[in-house]
Amino acid sequence: MKILIGIPAFLLALFFFAPPLSDAPTGFDNKSNGLVDDATHTADQVKFDEIEQLADGLGPLYNAQSCRECHQSPVSGASSQVTELRVGHNGPHGQFETPSIPIAHGTEVITGRSLVNDRAICPNAAFPDKEIQERVPDTENIRTFRLSLNLLGDGFVEAVADQSLTDLAKQQCKNSHGKICGQVLFVPVVEAPGQMGVGRFGWKDQHASLLSFAGDAYLNEMGITNRLQPDEVTKICNTVSEPNDTPGPDGLADIDHFARFIRATKAPAPDAQLAGGAVAQQGRALFEKIGCATCHVAALTTAPAGTKINGGTFTIPSALGSITFHPWGDFLMHNVGTGDGILQTIPEHYGRKVFQQMSGYLSKQDFESSRNKIRTAPLWGVRLRPRLMHDGASLTFLDAIARHRGEAEQVTDKFEKLKPAEKEAVFAFLRSL
Ligand code: HEC
Ligand code: HEC
Repeated sequence: MKILIGIPAFLLALFFFAPPLSDAPTGFDNKSNGLVDDATHTADQVKFDEIEQLADGLGPLYNAQSCRECHQSPVSGASSQVTELRVGHNGPHGQFETPSIPIAHGTEVITGRSLVNDRAICPNAAFPDKEIQERVPDTENIRTFRLSLNLLGDGFVEAVADQSLTDLAKQQCKNSHGKICGQVLFVPVVEAPGQMGVGRFGWKDQHASLLSFAGDAYLNEMGITNRLQPDEVTKICNTVSEPNDTPGPDGLADIDHFARFIRATKAPAPDAQLAGGAVAQQGRALFEKIGCATCHVAALTTAPAGTKINGGTFTIPSALGSITFHPWGDFLMHNVGTGDGILQTIPEHYGRKVFQQMSGYLSKQDFESSRNKIRTAPLWGVRLRPRLMHDGASLTFLDAIARHRGEAEQVTDKFEKLKPAEKEAVFAFLRSL
């Protein structure tokens, strides 16, 4: 008790009664972060890992048969080397236009999406003479690959208040005297029609909610229609009625299991041994000193348990409330000179229904100004990713850093002026994350 003498009573009260802030659990052990029990988490993972077949509604156009195919290394829910392909072209006034992709010998033209699916279910036994594979027409000369992203720990990201991200953007702009100003992008929450949230998921911050993303991915990556995305991209070769994803005996559809699986994952764990070493510690200090941490933010805190998010459809549970986590990212959009020029496509990400209703509440201008911006890549788990940046085209940390221009220009210059041993220390720090 002796050490308490002299500390004013109100400070003591604060210490004992302020809502406890704790750090997010980390690990690659396939266990729940406390949101559900481990058995439920394992059952949700089985859904995430499941290989979909024709009878489940796979396709007609798709990229892979299971979420795990692209989100797996080192465990289900993480990232992988798999990329997806997005294309488009400039219209007469320089504006982005989505591609027109003829399929089935030109009898149908796919429009309204930038994604080009790499696979198709036919020709097959039922449709031996149908051929619907998408191919990029020569006219679609804006082209990029986008690498699969890590999902581990994303429940914490979802639970950060919109206001915290808006404040972060303002603070960052102020502190850097207007040089580094992350953009907040309000996007539709698909499960809450008419409601918006601050986008934080996807390379272009295209979603605010994990359930919205799960519905988008189930349709666009796997061709499985669901209650949030009920329209097939094409009906040719389609045999299973819509929506393909229907609720099971527990009342939950697959997309609900996917969202709960992701929400219950632990955050990526740093390499404790490396992180504690003197060189990585020096690297961390340099990373912060030269300004990398302006965008690659060390810590964020979630809103308290009980807060309603996602347009009022999700209440933050105690396992995700008032938690500090270390994503090394700000989830804001920046122009670092690497933009791929491809704008978010509204019917593709939010469904045709939202597209028809959105004109009143979605700012087209906001979207257009984000065309050449990319969300700061969160660096948690980066030691486990051999390909870097949205297109996976940078294979070393040095290459990735050298590509940072635009808003990051001055920070990159400072990095380039570091002594060789100091650069090595920054790499050692990155290898510890
Ligand atoms: C063919 C590979 C592929 C499949 C299959 C796939 N994804 Fe993804 N996933 C990606 C890519 C690529 C991105 C980044 C997309 C972008 O932003 O353009 C991504 C991003 C995400 C994100 C955003 C993560 C973040 O932190 O920003 C979520 C959530 C997600 N996927 C969930 C799913 C779910 C759920 C499934 C199964 C229904 C699934 N994905 C299937 C490739 C895939
Ligand atoms: C102005 C904001 C900003 C600053 C400052 C910044 N970055 Fe980045 N960083 C980004 C963005 C945005 C991306 C994603 C770019 C892309 O994919 O095209 C990124 C990507 C990366 C990646 C690739 C990660 C992955 O998983 O693919 C690494 C590594 C990285 N940054 C390290 C650094 C280092 C080291 C510094 C300081 C020398 C730094 N960054 C400064 C915004 C920033």
